[in-house]
Amino acid sequence: MLRSITKMVGYRTFFLEPYASSYQVINNYTSTKGNIQNLPSLPVPKLEDTLTKYLKTVRPHLNDEEYAVTTSIVKDFISDKGVGRKLQSLLEKRAEKHLNWLEDWWLNTAYLEYRDPVVVYSSPGLVFPFRQFKNQKEQLRYAAKTLLAAVDYKDLIDSEKIPVEMMGKSPLDMQQYKKIFGTCRIPWEKRDKLSYNNEKHVTVFHNNHIFHVDLWGQDNVILSEDQIVSQLEKVIKQSSKPTSQGIGILTSDNRDNWAAAYRLLREDKTNKESLEDIEKSIAVLCLDSPVGLWKCPDDNARRNVAGAQTIHGGGAAANGGNRWFDKTIQFIVGADGVTGLTYEHSPAEGQPIAVMTDFIINYIERGKENSKTSANPKPPVLLKFNVTSKVDEMIKTARTNLDKLVGNLELNCFQYDKYGKNFIKSQKLSPDSYLQMAMQLAFYRLHNTPGAHYESAATRMYVGGRTETIRSCSIESIDFAKTMLNTKSSPKEKVAALQKAIKAHKDYTVQALQGLGVDRHLLGLKLTAIENGIPLPKLYSDPGFTRSAHMRISTSQVACKCDGFMCYGPLVADGYATCYNPRDDDVNIATAAFEQHRDTSAAQYRAALEASLRDMHDVLLLTTHSKL
Ligand code: COA
Repeated sequence: MLRSITKMVGYRTFFLEPYASSYQVINNYTSTKGNIQNLPSLPVPKLEDTLTKYLKTVRPHLNDEEYAVTTSIVKDFISDKGVGRKLQSLLEKRAEKHLNWLEDWWLNTAYLEYRDPVVVYSSPGLVFPFRQFKNQKEQLRYAAKTLLAAVDYKDLIDSEKIPVEMMGKSPLDMQQYKKIFGTCRIPWEKRDKLSYNNEKHVTVFHNNHIFHVDLWGQDNVILSEDQIVSQLEKVIKQSSKPTSQGIGILTSDNRDNWAAAYRLLREDKTNKESLEDIEKSIAVLCLDSPVGLWKCPDDNARRNVAGAQTIHGGGAAANGGNRWFDKTIQFIVGADGVTGLTYEHSPAEGQPIAVMTDFIINYIERGKENSKTSANPKPPVLLKFNVTSKVDEMIKTARTNLDKLVGNLELNCFQYDKYGKNFIKSQKLSPDSYLQMAMQLAFYRLHNTPGAHYESAATRMYVGGRTETIRSCSIESIDFAKTMLNTKSSPKEKVAALQKAIKAHKDYTVQALQGLGVDRHLLGLKLTAIENGIPLPKLYSDPGFTRSAHMRISTSQVACKCDGFMCYGPLVADGYATCYNPRDDDVNIATAAFEQHRDTSAAQYRAALEASLRDMHDVLLLTTHSKL
């Protein structure tokens, strides 16, 4: 995945800290301890550079008068007496003391302090290629293969055999891989925690019942595929009817609600043990009820159903309670062939998850048999919970809240199959920038106004790096959209505007990848002010800031080779989400909008996106042909 930035360079060994062998809950996990890969530190950009860039990105969102005000606010901010200088100097001091000045701040502000549910608002779903299971045995066999593939992958991570990914000549930080398995988010008032573990069991959900399933026998030998199938059959036998008491649904609620329920649950010894058992497991496996996948009229409908299952489980009456949304990885294997995973975003970006997905799909398709067989597997254990009437009420609230969330999310996931990266490259254009400009055009086509636009760029060339925002909405992208939609523009003018917009996007991307974007630096200055009791500068309440940071289009490239796709909800109430997997000859695209907002519709956005991709393709071909 993200193959272009992450060319594999063979099995170069890297040395990371071994997993802690015992259970630990860590609040501010700093992965940079020791900087084992010897990567550079995240730079603090120069104040003038960021604010020059900032002024360019706010321009499309302001009229002339407003822009003049914003410009003067910026001038004050960076003047010799301005607070910007003071904040910059404090931030630079912080950077001297941290290998990555942003890492802890980012983990806390972007994830652990965020109080909305992780479902829809934070945790993406990843849909694997569809399967058609003829019977339960096939479902369980697929689930067993998935678990064995995951354990194989975990083994590669543990033995430090995952190839170091590269961006050009720069190696990327590989620490996120270490956090995929065994990790669990713990709900806590104000700020959640993360728990990192290394144990040998998985948590299996069926009909909202929760089981501890050991993947190794008493002889410490890993179970064979047949043995895992047999364990899963035992799970199914013991959970033939859904339990109304399913507490998994609590993990879908607002974090404060869930933290309160968690605190109550933990007062009981049995509950505490069961909760810790889930938190410590390698991953969750959700054996889901059927959702009518193969009754769907077409591929688009199937993608929407599968996307919904991986994002939220379809609500309380479907598979929404058959989940533990705090767990970093929850594999989903549905009775009628929905397969994929839900991942809790705080420990890692989509990239390692998509790389793991390709590994799992290859493993399963290769049909590799595990040659080992344990002499004495341990039977699955049903995890027990004592639910008080107070917690029962909380479960009911969580069910209602999840159903509201489910009803509010409109998904439109599809495969754009007219062309993919190959065509775009043949036009000597960057595929990612091209697709981003298609989204800009689609938004402008629908709303006739600039759409502030977030794209994630990986900053993993730095130790502990996560992402920087690429502000895809630019003066050039709006000029391009207007030119494309103007019936009087010639094809030549349209292509010139497209090339200019792509170039502007690519230039910003290159800077963002080096940690030189606008958003993280401005966040750093803001948090510096907060930490030092300095009143927030005017810059942060100015329309230039608020409008350009109100990301109506929230996007991410998550590329995998298999025919899978990632999906998630919009960032803002009147926004769209667009996650895309550009492949050689097609692009898997997952769009989303909130039903409650009358200005947005994922169906219309998808149609506008397809029209944009068609028009861009046609105009490029037209000018190429006319040159011949
Ligand atoms: N002409 C021909 N080919 C070109 C080209 C041009 N003008 N510009 C780029 N290409 C090629 C590249 O060489 C690359 O080739 P490859 O497929 O052989 O490797 C390919 O097109 C793709 O490059 P491009 O589309 O420009 O960008 P990218 O794939 O590097 O992606 C980002 C850009 C920003 C998405 C990526 O760098 C990144 O940061 N990804 C991480 C995003 C993330 O964190 N997502 C998860 C969030 S949860």
